[in-house]
Amino acid sequence: MKVYKIGDNILKYRFGTPFPTDAVVKAGEGIEKDSIDYFQIEEKEELKLLYKMAPKDIVFGLGENQRGINKRGGKYISFCSDDPNHTPGKRSLYGAHNFIIIDGMENFGVFIDHPGKVVFDIGFNHKDYLEITIEDKNFDLYIIEGNSPREIVSSFLNIIGEGYVPPKWAFGYQQSRWSYPDAEKVEEIADKFIENNIPCDAIYLDIDYMEDYKNFTVSEERFPNFKEFVEKMKDKGFRLIPIIDAGVKIEDGYEIYEEGVEKGYFCVNSEGEPFVAAVWPGRVHFPDFLNRESRLWFGKKYGKLIDCGIEGFWNDMNEPAIFYTNRGIEQAIEEAKKAEGKNLNIDSFFGLKDEFRDISNNIEDYKSFYHNIEGKLVNHYDVHNLYGYNMTRSADEGFKNIAPNKRFLLISRSSYIGMHRHSGIWTGDNHSWWEHILLNVKMMPSLNMCGFLYSGADTGGFSDDANGELAVRWTQFSIFTPLFRNHSAKGTRHQEPFAFDEESNSIMKEAIKLRYGLIPYIYSEYMKAIINKDIYFAPISFEYNDEYSRRVEDQLLVGDSLMISPIYEENSRGRYIWLPEDMLLWKAKDYSERKYEIVEKGHRYLDIDIDEIPIFIRKNKVLVLGKHANTVDDIDNEELVVIAFAEDKASYTYYDDDGRSLDYRDGIYSKIIIEIEKREDDYQINVENHGNKDIKRLKLEIVDREGKVTKKTINI
Ligand code: GLC
Repeated sequence: MKVYKIGDNILKYRFGTPFPTDAVVKAGEGIEKDSIDYFQIEEKEELKLLYKMAPKDIVFGLGENQRGINKRGGKYISFCSDDPNHTPGKRSLYGAHNFIIIDGMENFGVFIDHPGKVVFDIGFNHKDYLEITIEDKNFDLYIIEGNSPREIVSSFLNIIGEGYVPPKWAFGYQQSRWSYPDAEKVEEIADKFIENNIPCDAIYLDIDYMEDYKNFTVSEERFPNFKEFVEKMKDKGFRLIPIIDAGVKIEDGYEIYEEGVEKGYFCVNSEGEPFVAAVWPGRVHFPDFLNRESRLWFGKKYGKLIDCGIEGFWNDMNEPAIFYTNRGIEQAIEEAKKAEGKNLNIDSFFGLKDEFRDISNNIEDYKSFYHNIEGKLVNHYDVHNLYGYNMTRSADEGFKNIAPNKRFLLISRSSYIGMHRHSGIWTGDNHSWWEHILLNVKMMPSLNMCGFLYSGADTGGFSDDANGELAVRWTQFSIFTPLFRNHSAKGTRHQEPFAFDEESNSIMKEAIKLRYGLIPYIYSEYMKAIINKDIYFAPISFEYNDEYSRRVEDQLLVGDSLMISPIYEENSRGRYIWLPEDMLLWKAKDYSERKYEIVEKGHRYLDIDIDEIPIFIRKNKVLVLGKHANTVDDIDNEELVVIAFAEDKASYTYYDDDGRSLDYRDGIYSKIIIEIEKREDDYQINVENHGNKDIKRLKLEIVDREGKVTKKTINI
């Protein structure tokens, strides 16, 4: 074991010869050390790290996963999986995010940088023990010390590199559905947004836009004159976001397939032939995204659609999902033949059923193909969790080749830590279930801790049918998620806002308008988090360390100023909340009408009507509010409303930039620093403008401890 010191508070323990994942961007200096802090090691076939947790320790992290913000009590398996049924017992979803934080008697973070299977048993097997099992003994273990979870997260984000920033328009509302079948339908949807006056910035194109599910092709029949159509839709205010899948269809004459075979860009089987699996188009090859050349080749192909005016993509099925292989089908048929005419009992019948169920995403298949890494064949199974990450890296590298300083929208389904530098993620195929609103709430801070700030769920739920109330409540939560996309599966009930009754439509519309009004705050907080290696969504215990705050799982901090308490139960018109301090409550409906109340510290039951979104402004903090428009580009923010809950003083740093380029990386952005200080019966206001040319006026609404509102206008 070699040990490296990275900065003052991070040690990396290297076991064997790990596969380079590129998750961490900071190297360390070798030091002399022969034992591991915190953990006991058990070495058998696999390697196990053991830690005894104290009764009140909280374990945060693990990104995209089931269960609570506090991960105690569960067993989680990092193995990127195409599993569309996110029921509570599931142990693997689409991402592999091997970072946890122990917060309690001792405070430290742990990152297992390993692209194969890793099991986190966090008090499942034995309630007091954290057991991390790594199947393969070649990996890097990082231990990060810090005084608080926030400090540990920040140190971690610092070593994994700066997070992805989408274009500003990608903070607008986005509409998706598998599948709008043709250009006519897409335009009809766009027109309905316009008719209903509902802001929307993007419409997604699911697999039906392609010709026979072939990547980088567009069906001439269903989307004739694609380039003109993209332009026409942009003129109407909608960007189109096409899907790209991992598998490349095997078909003579299809350029990408032929080129890939000729140049050896696909993953191979044990005979060195391109590996064959089947997904949407039937048989496909998988591009070898772990191979630099293949990655660059595939990345350039995005240019075909970019040339048509496309500015955003979603990368899907990149775990990679496998519907079947010949091996799987043959094996199942073989078993079925053996069973023919037999009297099957409990074991043999269910065994046969499982044979068929296990045709998809089968471990045998993942073990039977290889990547070519600098001339050496590496079995896919050993590096499985890096596949989606590298597909997405390929797209990002492609964009950088085509337009080096332009931001593109990019989200991926599968991911590994480090991918957050290239794109955001959506959380895959959830259901239109109330439980999945709550899962969405709990997942957001965990994803943030692993670097994935630009994320969100399929609002309204992907599978099953949503009713109006569920769509309303989910929308009311999603207005706070950086990625705000409503998506649903083919065959389910439509769930665009106007697909429901008048009242639900109108409530969703107000919520979406509020989202646009919140963009100055959301964007400012998002960007500051990216630049300062901080998070956007946090558990409330990251700021309040009292005993109750440490237990809260269904209230979140959004940026530095806000706390939210989403509704996730049907027919509910209120809920219990814990207020760790006095806060200013705005139950937002129509955001241009604002009434405030002070809610005192303590346990409270809050009435929340179906059209209300409770927004809490923390003590001595500030919310900036703009206006809505039909698209983000059209927002006129000459005037910002500044809502402050000032017990004695409150301050805010408002960030903005061009929203399109990567110039912010060179420090090219503007800031407005607002300082409010209570002076007897009045307030002293100090405003410093560092380069903002858009905002001309600040309309302050300062609320004091007694609830008295003082209004002031400041020209800047
Ligand atoms: C996968 C994706 C989903 C998409 C569907 C069809 O299930 O997760 O979002 O709509 O494939 O492309």
